Amino acid sequence: MEKRAFIKSYGCQMNVYDATRMADQLRAEGYTIVDEADGADLVLLNTCHIREKAAEKVYSELGRLKNARGASGEPTVIGVAGCVAQAEGEEIIRRQPRVDFVVGPQSYHRLPALLAGASRGEKPVDTDFPAEDKFHHLAQPTRRAITARGVTSFLTVQEGCDKFCAFCVVPYTRGAEVSRPVAEIVDEAQRLAEAGVREVTLLGQNVNAYHGANGRGGHASLADLIGRLAEIDGLARLRFTTSHPNDMGEDLIAAHRDEAKLMPYLHLPVQAGSDTVLKAMNRKHTAADYVALIERIRAARPDLALSGDFIVGFPGESDADFEATMEIVEAVGYAAAYSFKYSTRPGTPAAGRTDQIDEAVKSERLQRLQALLADQQRAFNRACVGRRLSVLIEKKGRREGQWVGRSPYLQPVHIPADAGAIGDLVEVDITAAEGNSLFGRATGASANPSRSEAA
Ligand code: 5AD
Ligand code: SF4
Repeated sequence: MEKRAFIKSYGCQMNVYDATRMADQLRAEGYTIVDEADGADLVLLNTCHIREKAAEKVYSELGRLKNARGASGEPTVIGVAGCVAQAEGEEIIRRQPRVDFVVGPQSYHRLPALLAGASRGEKPVDTDFPAEDKFHHLAQPTRRAITARGVTSFLTVQEGCDKFCAFCVVPYTRGAEVSRPVAEIVDEAQRLAEAGVREVTLLGQNVNAYHGANGRGGHASLADLIGRLAEIDGLARLRFTTSHPNDMGEDLIAAHRDEAKLMPYLHLPVQAGSDTVLKAMNRKHTAADYVALIERIRAARPDLALSGDFIVGFPGESDADFEATMEIVEAVGYAAAYSFKYSTRPGTPAAGRTDQIDEAVKSERLQRLQALLADQQRAFNRACVGRRLSVLIEKKGRREGQWVGRSPYLQPVHIPADAGAIGDLVEVDITAAEGNSLFGRATGASANPSRSEAA
């Protein structure tokens, strides 16, 4: 009888990518991937530990799944993957005995063995950091699976983090920085392109620190890797996320000037604007360093748009410190941003601090910051009206006869469907901005850089 698996992912884009790799592996094991837990023989929760709220979600979901059964009537096998699995391991089964196995992010290639152990009732827990490269051992996606996922794709090139920001669990949940070899990434990107993918976002917790083996005894930087991937016919756009300011090398800045396929959009978190807070966060740069860096990047690529991450209410953050965050946002100007209240994470250096900030103060600061960031986003979107932007057509729009695609700046752009087909890159005159979306008319010109700009 057909076995059905449902994977639910929380958290970051890397979890989304991991979920696709686990789905490919489960397909190789004979599962059909379904899009709801109801009636599934296997449910895999791919969890996130970054903030308390994200981590708690897994236990409420597990509570809901307690009595779940597959189509055969057998109890659903429940697995917990992702960063909560890594951080809490056995504790998950203690808190929710219905869980059949736990697998950390570095052990996904061991899924077949874990499923076998689970079926014997052994309740295996695997939170190792094995020496072997999981991606090398995980099943490759079929062409059909890639095509079904659409014309954009994530591709993890680097994992883990050696920076140890005082608030962050990532160095513990994802481990030390590891870069995948260039050849492996090029193979994967080529396979994606052959199946119709036009845009690839290179992922890493600290992606601009990428230094993968280049096959000639040396290492490639992220800029080198981007140069190599830009040679792949069919791939029209490249992006990367997420970066640390201190790893923004000269060659990567130059790539933003020279590489037509690299989109003029950069996610470069600063987290806070006060030097006292930045120091306490162990960010190892000042606010002025960051602003100077942004100036250099913008000098190389004047039309570059920025996005960022911010934390308010880090332990010890004074009113004046918070004002400095507002000031750096004013000084930089963001096209988009994510902002969060500081959340105490067990095991991180900042968790032990006794000068934690009151929740009400955090909420008030977050509200003010988010209002400013929303203003900037609206202003950025409005400033796009009247511009001609390239749009990668991704799917049908909400209305009949409409496509929706993305601008270079990741804004959704709605255009009449006579403009082209899914996967086409078209030039669009932007006529309106509403909410976070743009609307426009295709000019009839192809914006395909592999045929024009980047030739
Ligand atoms: N509390 C709040 N936000 C956090 N982030 C990481 N750790 C925490 C935490 N403990 C935010 C940072 C990071 C983003 C992915 O999540 O802004 O860049
Ligand atoms: Fe969450 Fe970080 Fe893990 Fe991504 S890497 S799932 S953001 S804890």
